[in-house]
Amino acid sequence: MSRILQDRDERRPETHPLTFRLNDDGTPVMLDAYREQQGYASVERAFSDLTSKTLIDELKTANLRGRGGGGFSAGLKWSLTMQGEGIPRGYIVCNADEMEPGTFKDRLLLEQQPHLLIEGMILAGFANNAYQGYIFMRGEYVDAARTVQRALEEARAAGWLGRDVAGSGWDFDIALHTGAGRYICGEETALINSLEGKRASPRAKPPFPGQSGAWGKPTVVNNVETLCNVPSVVLHGADWYQGLSQGKSGDGGTKLYGVSGKVKRPGLWELPMGTTGNELLERAGGMRDGHTLKTWLPGGGSTGFLLPEHLELALDFDTIGKAGSRLGTGLIAVVADDQSVVSLARNLEEFFARESCGWCTPCRDGLPWSVKLLQALEAGEGERGDIDLLESLAVDLGPGRTFCAHAPGAAMPLASAIHYFRDEFERGVTRGQGAAHADPIPVGSI
Ligand SMILES: Cc1cc2nc3c(=O)[nH]c(=O)nc-3n(C[C@H](O)[C@H](O)[C@H](O)COP(=O)(O)O)c2cc1C
Ligand code: SF4
Repeated sequence: MSRILQDRDERRPETHPLTFRLNDDGTPVMLDAYREQQGYASVERAFSDLTSKTLIDELKTANLRGRGGGGFSAGLKWSLTMQGEGIPRGYIVCNADEMEPGTFKDRLLLEQQPHLLIEGMILAGFANNAYQGYIFMRGEYVDAARTVQRALEEARAAGWLGRDVAGSGWDFDIALHTGAGRYICGEETALINSLEGKRASPRAKPPFPGQSGAWGKPTVVNNVETLCNVPSVVLHGADWYQGLSQGKSGDGGTKLYGVSGKVKRPGLWELPMGTTGNELLERAGGMRDGHTLKTWLPGGGSTGFLLPEHLELALDFDTIGKAGSRLGTGLIAVVADDQSVVSLARNLEEFFARESCGWCTPCRDGLPWSVKLLQALEAGEGERGDIDLLESLAVDLGPGRTFCAHAPGAAMPLASAIHYFRDEFERGVTRGQGAAHADPIPVGSI
């Protein structure tokens, strides 16, 4: 179970829209309790005061950026979704695949606050003129699946889903779909293929899902946390939402940040967007006794390593991007001084190699090759030239060379590990060091 590590006194409706309702014992907030705490009030407001266009404009002004890792503006995405006369009504898909290494934030929302997600999806359906929603959930999230299924049944019985939602004359329902546990299913177009019962390979873009997605219809894919932010924007307005980040970031709202690794209190906190790494580490009680921080990943395994001095930066999409990494999911993984960066890089690349869908050559062949090189360096059996080769593999895996962002995501920790910790990689080189091995073996001698 994912747990929020903030006292209830701190989690107030006016400052903590994602977590103020959570029970201290981690039990889910089901319909009655949810309704007592402003639950579904945003849907009532949308039906009485808003149109699709005004809702999307509000979201754009709020500057809610996608929390699935890419940081794309949710309002802009919705404004690009095809709708209108002659265009079929499509789908809202909630991406609940959450297999990013070191990430466990969506799980908290799914297990403990399922109605907030349903409410966000209803608003997304209303704004994008969809008639069906799907929650695509990681197969291992068994407890979350049970809770979400119960919440869907409650919402349907209470008239928030199904025919004539809340007497509005508009039909919209949501189904839960559990995946079979592949990281690539989190990539939005691979997810759509998987939802359709096909092999989970990413699709070429364009067309983007907003034009032609699931079963060829306009489809909006958003992350769990993104969708859970929408009700508060609709209920309290864009200015209020912007103010939640307290001037710490140009982005609006709060963020579910987390910390894992050798800290005293690993866990999750809802904090203003743009909170610094130092403030977050302090929340986690600092490093465990006897350990100092060597490096950290800002938002999952597909982000680049940063140094301790980068902890003073705001954890938001633009700031962390300028520092050469990515905010990703915003759950930082700390690495202590006694941990090997070479081993960590090997571990991550093994994961990415295993999870490649195999469509593009740099990803299918380059990732296993990088694993072999890293294994050799880890065992102290690397050869001269291995580090340069790894660096050139990272370039070949980079942006623009593959169909999806899986390979560029895998390249980030690799390239940054070598950039900041080249000496550790060099310590793994033994063969080919001496003069006797320095020159290539003459062909005739083989
Ligand atoms: C390999 C890979 C895995 C991904 N996994 C997830 C995931 O588990 N959850 C998620 O929300 N987005 C994931 N994404 C990003 C999605 O493709 C997509 O951008 C996101 O769901 C859009 O939602 P947002 O705009 O609300 O962030 C992944 C992307 C890639 C390339
Ligand atoms: S980058 Fe990798 S995961 Fe993405 S489409 Fe190509 S082979 Fe598949």
